[in-house]
Amino acid sequence: MIRYGKDQRVAVTLTINGRPYRRWVEPRMLLSDFIRDEVGLTGTHVGCEHGVCGACTVLIDGEPARSCLRLAVDVEPQNVTTIEGLAKEPGYERVRRAFSQNHALQCGFCTAGIVASVWSRLENYEGLQVDWDELLSGHLCRCTGYVGIQNAIRDLQGEEREQ
Ligand code: FES
Ligand code: FES
Repeated sequence: MIRYGKDQRVAVTLTINGRPYRRWVEPRMLLSDFIRDEVGLTGTHVGCEHGVCGACTVLIDGEPARSCLRLAVDVEPQNVTTIEGLAKEPGYERVRRAFSQNHALQCGFCTAGIVASVWSRLENYEGLQVDWDELLSGHLCRCTGYVGIQNAIRDLQGEEREQ
């Protein structure tokens, strides 16, 4: 339920990485700004701010979403997971290792968003055919040329098959 204050801010409670955060915000506040500026979770990066680069990707109820295209008030009943939340998951270490060993990042600006998308596919579509190139097409990386990222994904898929 939306409650307006005197200055037209609204009370919002978002569940991020399993913790509730209640704030008074402008109704137009983006989810990406809520995550970074209100909660201080700066692992989510903001690049283009209009849905193109994928840097701001987080998980909303387990599915990847551009946090620069969602209003904070809009996701109130849902669960948001950022890279800080993923880093506490038991399966995160193998993703981190695959990215590290394959030099799948340089400046790292795009990495949190890519990891969120890859994570979602590995968790939610295990054993199913995934078009990884299509997935990566939603993420702009200016540094790596994508080869390292593709190799990291290949390693992760190989691990999955061996399990
Ligand atoms: S900052 Fe959201 S897609 Fe670029
Ligand atoms: S590692 Fe720099 S933008 Fe991807």
